[in-house]
Amino acid sequence: MTPEIKIKVLVVDDEEILRDRLKRLLEMDDYEVITAENGPKGLEEFGKFQPDLVLLDVKMPGMDGIEVLERIKKTDIPTEVFIMTGHGGVETAIQALRKGAFDYLTKPVDYDELEINMKRAVEQRKLQKQLDSYVQDLEAVHRKMKIQQAQLLQAAKLTAVGELGAGVAHEMNQPLMAISSHLEILLMNPAISSDDKIKEKINKIKDQFVRLGTIVKRLHEYSSGRTGNYFNESVNRPVQDGVYLFTQQLKDHNIEITVDLMEDLPKTYIDRYQIQDVAMNFLVNARDAVDAAFNQQVGGKVHVFSKMLAAQNCVLVGLIDNGIPIQEGTESELFNPFFTTKPVGKGTGLGLSVCYNIVKNHNGIISFTKIKDNRKVFYFAIPVDKNKNLAEEANLVKDINEELNKL
Ligand SMILES: Nc1ncnc2c1ncn2[C@@H]1O[C@H](COP(=O)(O)OP(=O)(O)OP(=O)(O)O)[C@@H](O)[C@H]1O
Ligand SMILES: [Mg+2]
Repeated sequence: MTPEIKIKVLVVDDEEILRDRLKRLLEMDDYEVITAENGPKGLEEFGKFQPDLVLLDVKMPGMDGIEVLERIKKTDIPTEVFIMTGHGGVETAIQALRKGAFDYLTKPVDYDELEINMKRAVEQRKLQKQLDSYVQDLEAVHRKMKIQQAQLLQAAKLTAVGELGAGVAHEMNQPLMAISSHLEILLMNPAISSDDKIKEKINKIKDQFVRLGTIVKRLHEYSSGRTGNYFNESVNRPVQDGVYLFTQQLKDHNIEITVDLMEDLPKTYIDRYQIQDVAMNFLVNARDAVDAAFNQQVGGKVHVFSKMLAAQNCVLVGLIDNGIPIQEGTESELFNPFFTTKPVGKGTGLGLSVCYNIVKNHNGIISFTKIKDNRKVFYFAIPVDKNKNLAEEANLVKDINEELNKL
């Protein structure tokens, strides 16, 4: 149900008796009324009070009604203005109508006539107000839909990547098996097994083959287990997997990566593939930041770590990079959907917002902090006790930031 909207009226007239009479009558009819005794005061009240209707005397000392009308019409405040003229003021009335007045009244004002005209204006105002509020509601729904649509798109994108991964893994399996058996046959050949140089080369091929096999296996796992499967396990595994899939790319970009995952990290209740997503999003962002700073020249560094925070009983995973700094003034927006500083076509601005949702669903927290030597850490923490929600720990982010600032 639409709440009853009270109509606001501003009366601007230098004659006190008329002002007060109109105020009294209008208030009896349940209008909200404010008065002003001259043009400048009227404009001041107009800005503050934002009335729906203005009753404006034309002849006032100083600024006259026509000028006040002009100034009112230049604002964005939606309002209807009634001009009150003395006898014989037809020309002024026509001028006022041309300048956007709703109607004119001749003085002395006939209250009944005024009321009828005001009701007309009020109806128009009410309709306009309702229309505005419908438009606002519609815009809000539209904004929400856009965000949901983009999140769906992101989910669809991830699913597509998953499906592609599964397809590639499947297709690669057979040739890999064939290569493997051919290598074994070669190694069994006495002519080869007695030649150390050839044997060494074949073993190198075998090493690379094993690596390829691992990638295919990871891709397959990544694509087959993407949907909310929570298990009690160490976050090290998905972080390591994410790094593994990304190592070559970082090398290609001349970025040095170091990894320091704490051994015997307590297990946490996680969806491995979602945590891997977070790690990979961090890695992609770090790669972009480092690329932007070093233009693929040597010097870019990324460090991935995990550790236990005993006092807070949670595990912390962080990624440090020495790429371009976070843009000044954008700090509070980084996790918002669509927020990106990357060129059109490069970033969708959804990476960190997806990470935020994932970590939130794990009862964790996600954040970042600048540290010395122009570096920054993006990190997330997951509680060891899955029933605890880290978002409720008041000083956690502050404590972690302090800890990280020592690095
Ligand atoms: N390691 C980082 N260094 C500097 N700025 C970063 C880093 N990570 C994120 N940002 C900033 O946060 C913004 C949002 O990141 P987010 O991952 O959400 O979107 P994106 O990387 O721009 O696009 P995509 O949807 O492709 O991930 C980035 O555009 C960038 O300005
Ligand atoms: Mg990103």
